[in-house]
Amino acid sequence: MSANAPAGSAAVIELRGVSKHYDNGAGMLQALKAIDFTVHANDYVALVGASGSGKSTLMNILGCLDRPSEGRMHFNGTPTQDMGDTELSRLRNRHIGFVFQSYSLLPKLSALENVAQPLVFAGVGQGKRRDMAARMLEKVGLADRARHYPSQLSGGQQQRVAIARALVNTPSVVLADEPTGNLDSASSRVIMELFASLHGEGQTIVMVTHDASVAAQCRSQVEIRDGEFVR
Ligand SMILES: Nc1ncnc2c1ncn2[C@@H]1O[C@H](COP(=O)(O)OP(=O)(O)OP(=O)(O)O)[C@@H](O)[C@H]1O
Ligand SMILES: [Mg+2]
Repeated sequence: MSANAPAGSAAVIELRGVSKHYDNGAGMLQALKAIDFTVHANDYVALVGASGSGKSTLMNILGCLDRPSEGRMHFNGTPTQDMGDTELSRLRNRHIGFVFQSYSLLPKLSALENVAQPLVFAGVGQGKRRDMAARMLEKVGLADRARHYPSQLSGGQQQRVAIARALVNTPSVVLADEPTGNLDSASSRVIMELFASLHGEGQTIVMVTHDASVAAQCRSQVEIRDGEFVR
């Protein structure tokens, strides 16, 4: 079932008939059931649904962190099913900014070094890495925290570092799984203002949220229930 009508702009990610099964020991669990979903350029989509409905499973597939069990996926018009793991991680590094619910910053690296990390994999030289990471930290309002370690930052600041890290490679799409999930309402507001301004600059964003007031701030909403979209 298709959750979203085609828009005028180009498709960044297209899923057709995508299913995901997990073998949980007692049998097969269908986490996603023949999903059709298109993310268009400059979309700002909230993905909502109950716990266990398949939101993270879908995000992980959109972000090429996981592969569908069945179905087809295109990224910027290129089919992904025939790509090997190396090719897929290169695509991820170049085109996808993933924000995890738990920040997942490296504790022994400073804020600046965390933000610069994807550029190491992309083969960018050290000086340029520092400049690009510093610019991103400035963009998320943390220029004065560049040398701080994750343990010296608040939850909201850590999440902003994680967002800066997701953005540093100028990705085609930002995928954020519960980016405000662990935050108080003030920090959550700062994060949502940041996403709104990124969207205003043309960034494509898909965000998972449990919070109806957060979802209402996105441009469109899709709801998933038991691995299927709800119309
Ligand atoms: N690696 C896995 N192995 C087996 N089952 C899994 C695995 N990952 C997820 N599942 C199952 O797939 C279903 C969907 O899980 P998923 O993590 O996508 O839900 P979710 O909507 O993100 O939930 P939440 O809001 O709690 O984060 C659940 O029933 C879950 O138990
Ligand atoms: Mg989840």
